[in-house]
Formats: sequence, C-alpha cells, structure tokens
Amino acid sequence: MTTIIAITNQKGGVGKTTTAVNLSASLALQGIPTLLVDLDPQANATSALGVEKKPGCSLYGPLRGSGQASEFIVETKRKHFWLLPSEIDLAALETELAQKPDYLMQLKRCLAPLKTFKVIILDCPPALGMLSMNGLVAADKFIITLQCEYLAMEGLKPILAVAEQLRNEGLNPQLELLGILMTMFDVRTRLSNQVVTEVDKHLAPKRLKTLIPRSVRLAEAPSFGETIFEYDPVSSGAMAYAALGKEVVGLLKW
Ligand SMILES: Nc1ncnc2c1ncn2[C@@H]1O[C@H](COP(=O)(O)OP(=O)(O)OP(=O)(O)O)[C@@H](O)[C@H]1O
Ligand SMILES: [Mg+2]
Repeated sequence: MTTIIAITNQKGGVGKTTTAVNLSASLALQGIPTLLVDLDPQANATSALGVEKKPGCSLYGPLRGSGQASEFIVETKRKHFWLLPSEIDLAALETELAQKPDYLMQLKRCLAPLKTFKVIILDCPPALGMLSMNGLVAADKFIITLQCEYLAMEGLKPILAVAEQLRNEGLNPQLELLGILMTMFDVRTRLSNQVVTEVDKHLAPKRLKTLIPRSVRLAEAPSFGETIFEYDPVSSGAMAYAALGKEVVGLLKW
C-alpha cells in the first residue's frame, strides 16, 4: 500500500517545498521507498535536489492523457529517494485541465500505477488551483505548513474548506488532515509562540508536535542542490526534519 501525502498551503513562501524535500529525505533515510512529486511549475523541489529542469520532463503529458508518470521518474543520487520533476509547462495545466472531464481526478489516475513506493509526497504550488486540487484528490493525507507569523491561521480556512468539499462531494471521501506543521519557528520571538498557542487553542490535536525552526542552513541547502541532511546534518533544521519523519511514520500506523 502506498500512502500519498500532499504538502499544501495556498499561501506562498510558507515552507511547503522545504518540507516536501526534507520530509522525503528523512523518510528515505529511514529506508522507506519514497517518491517526491514536484507539482509546482516553479520547480523549486526539482532544483533543490540538484536535478536539472528539462522541457518535457514532468507530469505535463501524463496529466493530459499522454504517456505514463513512470516514464518521467528520475533517480536522485540518494538511496530510496525518487523524484518526479517539474518544469514550467505544468503552469499551462491550470487552464488546460479545466477543459477535461474528470479534471480533478487526473493526478490520481497518473499515480495509481506507481505501486513500488511506500510514500509519495506531493509538493503543491501556492494556489488552490487545478494542480493543488488534483493533489488533494489524489492524496490520502495532507499536511498544511504554517509559517509562524501574524494572521497565519487565516490561511487555514480556505484549504480546510476545500478538503471538506472534496470529502463531501465524494471526490476523496478518505482525505485526512495528517497535521499542521509550524515552520520558521523562532524561539526568541513572542510572535512564534503566540501563533503556536493560537493554533493549539483551535486545533491542538492536529498540530504536529515537531516544530521546524527558522534556520539559515535550511534556506541555504537548496542552492547547493542538497537536502539538509547532506548540507548540514547536525543543524537544528536537520534534527527537526528527522524528528518530523519519525512523527509522520508514527501517525501513519503501518
Ligand atoms: N525553516 C526555515 N528557516 C529559514 N528559512 C526557511 C525555512 N523554511 C523555508 N525557508 C525559506 O523560505 C523560503 C520559502 O520556503 P519554501 O520555498 O519552502 O516555501 P513554499 O511554501 O514552498 O513557497 P512557494 O509557495 O513559493 O512554493 C525559501 O527561501 C526557503 O529557503
Ligand atoms: Mg514551493
């Protein structure tokens, strides 16, 4: 059985890609066969892993019904860790997919034959458009990354509403919020602590216990095409993403 986990938030710059890359790496380091699917036309996850963006090398074709997703999967240089890269063509799908029948089911259809992976992580773009919606329909679980900043909680409402709608309309009745992940947590600021307290007031059972600290090392790693475990394995960011990998495995109750 493969578990598909979407990393989402319609807000930009809140740590989705950093989490998708380093959570995937953490799972792979635990020996779990993991596929990271880059669903964002910006292709940040692809670059972050040091994989070259190539025209035509993405889910663009398969999502439109031509070719198989498996043809585009690349090996990263890491054990147990594969990537389905992105490139700018994916942007066109936001309008093209809307013209297809079953337009929300296309990613689910593309990923269904990929049975060799234990976990598939989806790095969603910063919008609740076609690609993210396809991600939420294909996913078993989703994680919302929430940056520890003023009004962070406001961003939760739209995505929770969309998930509820997908469940109610029968498009993905099993879809479950795996957890809310607090990112760029800064112990020194009162604001970070206030945001966590505020989330706990409303959604305590759904907040992931691992806090991802604000760390320059996490921001630097992608420019070297490295995960945090390669770039600085003893940094606070590496420890946090290792802990997140363990927490997620615990929640999946295999
Ligand atoms: N814990 C962190 N500490 C410091 N910087 C971080 C942290 N997490 C992410 N960043 C940096 O913040 C920026 C946004 O992060 P990231 O790309 O992961 O967010 P995103 O939600 O995927 O953005 P987008 O919506 O554009 O896809 C990046 O420059 C990243 O390196
Ligand atoms: Mg991103």
